[in-house]
Amino acid sequence: MPTESKPRVLSGIQPTADSFHFGNYFGAIRQWPTFQHDHDAFYCVVDLHAITVEYDPAALRERTYRSVAQLIAAGIDPEHSALFIQSHVPQHAQLAWVLNCITGFGEAGRMTQFKDKSAKSGSDRTSVGLFTYPILQAADILIYQADQVPIGEDQRQHLELTRDLAGRFNHRFGKTFTVPQPYIVKSMAKILDLQDPTAKMSKSASAPSGIIDLLEDPRKAAKKIRSAVTDSGSEIRFDEENKPGISNLLTIYSALTGSPVAVIEKEYEGQQYGQFKVALSELVADFVGPFGERTNELLADRAELDRILKSGADKAKAVATQTLALVYDRLGFVL
Ligand code: TYM
Repeated sequence: MPTESKPRVLSGIQPTADSFHFGNYFGAIRQWPTFQHDHDAFYCVVDLHAITVEYDPAALRERTYRSVAQLIAAGIDPEHSALFIQSHVPQHAQLAWVLNCITGFGEAGRMTQFKDKSAKSGSDRTSVGLFTYPILQAADILIYQADQVPIGEDQRQHLELTRDLAGRFNHRFGKTFTVPQPYIVKSMAKILDLQDPTAKMSKSASAPSGIIDLLEDPRKAAKKIRSAVTDSGSEIRFDEENKPGISNLLTIYSALTGSPVAVIEKEYEGQQYGQFKVALSELVADFVGPFGERTNELLADRAELDRILKSGADKAKAVATQTLALVYDRLGFVL
């Protein structure tokens, strides 16, 4: 249980691409810094999760640093949040084993992300690690006794599993874990693919033209917005069902300016999609340009990143060690 009075927050992100995209950013990362002053905040780059699918070791190492730099550029202040790499805190994997042993095989098999991903690659090329991925995610959360977990909509089911496992463990072995709450900002919870606004923006499923990366060249990003698929009709109006394309662009516009969607609709009343897209493309270019510069500055000093990561892992380990000791005691292990 948290020893301090502040509530705890934890989230994680995979280092599986050279850049995070707008879905990751608006759906999750942007919320992370808002917790860091009134919560004990723990944010990790989940490299153990990244090896559940085929990958290249050299790329993983580089992407892990790029992920850390982007999180700092996005406003995570390592003085206020514990920013660390999952594999630096071995207690995540240790708790995951324990949770594996209280998870039903069928229960794990019902995770939709697993079903989707394994259906694509076939059972022989699907690792057991991918099957147990959500259980490791539960361990990431429960080892810190997190109260809140800021995530996008696609992670809701994994959070439900986490809550079930926490409740089950508490019921069998005595109150041990805080049961966490998902923190999902409804309006940003599912950023859509720019070319296929019926699907979410996804690093594994979207074509490059459907994704805007945070580290994208500003001119390319602007062009992607101008070529985004929009719906029939011409009115700039938020209507997720009938106008998913323009609604997605309105969401991004609102996120970048802080203006409510209703105000933006009024502002563009009587104008064409094209005019709106040009204005949004400029906002996007003005956002990704400085973001990329800041990330590159941070990446130029690896020694400083290593220092930040060591200090983050130390803070994380202090909490994780306590939780694991309590869990081992509850399980009946000889201590
Ligand atoms: P990952 O790296 O796939 O995604 C990171 C975060 O981005 C959100 N996200 C989106 N949100 C809105 N619209 C989209 N199109 C979109 N695409 C991605 C995801 O919901 C996620 O919040 N399994 C986690 C990583 C993880 C984790 C954890 C998260 C591992 N351990 C513990 C929270 C707590 C994941 O999906 O990462």
